[in-house]
Amino acid sequence: MKCDVLTLFPDIITAYLNESIMKRARENKLLDVHPVNIRDFTSDVHRTVDDYPFGGGAGMVFKPEPIFRAMDHLNEDGEARKVILLSPRGIPFDQKKAECFAGETRRLTFICGRYEGIDERVKHLVDEEVSIGDYVMTGGELAALVIIDAVTRLVPGAVGDASSVKDESFSSGLLEYPQYTRPGEFRGMKVPDVLLSGNHEEIRQWRRKQALKTTMKVRPEMLDRIDLDESDKKMISEISSEDD
Ligand code: ADE
Repeated sequence: MKCDVLTLFPDIITAYLNESIMKRARENKLLDVHPVNIRDFTSDVHRTVDDYPFGGGAGMVFKPEPIFRAMDHLNEDGEARKVILLSPRGIPFDQKKAECFAGETRRLTFICGRYEGIDERVKHLVDEEVSIGDYVMTGGELAALVIIDAVTRLVPGAVGDASSVKDESFSSGLLEYPQYTRPGEFRGMKVPDVLLSGNHEEIRQWRRKQALKTTMKVRPEMLDRIDLDESDKKMISEISSEDD
């Protein structure tokens, strides 16, 4: 995955990408991130990136010129880019979108907004406006990192055990079943017997039922979006009667 991140705070981006799986993915050339400091593309002595809103109102607005200049500079390399603006006004980011971005052959170029907003004309540069959730953060940097992290995990080789990516919540359409490791008993809390039984079919069924149970409780609407087979339906009616 190749990407650029246009930001006023490139250190936020590099700090995260210098740790753990992101760091290893970069070392293994599976992830290439180029942070670009938008302030380097200002043209006044004060390196101004914001200004008052036309029409009045509170707060400052991100000026268009430094962002356009930064993009002009990037485009000099002739590479194809998909430009993504991070904003609470964007379309919601989810696992499906992560898969879509993971399949992109173009460089993903993220523009991180700051201040109360960004001059609307910046939209002329943008292919997609994306939000990571219904809340407002102080800037788009964390949103860019969330997306880069979720997409990098889907790049073959980035995560040690590929089956752990395939099995997990959201790719299956259900929330994940509970996991346990040693010790078998901790402060009086026991690991469910079935997991120690060595019976793979029973374990598989237990996990499926637990995944259905958590999803029913926390995100019931997710069940409407997946194909449930007869065994799932039986488990669901068992769960409903157990809860009664
Ligand atoms: N910038 C500020 N809040 C945001 C959000 N929820 N998603 C993406 N970018 C943002």
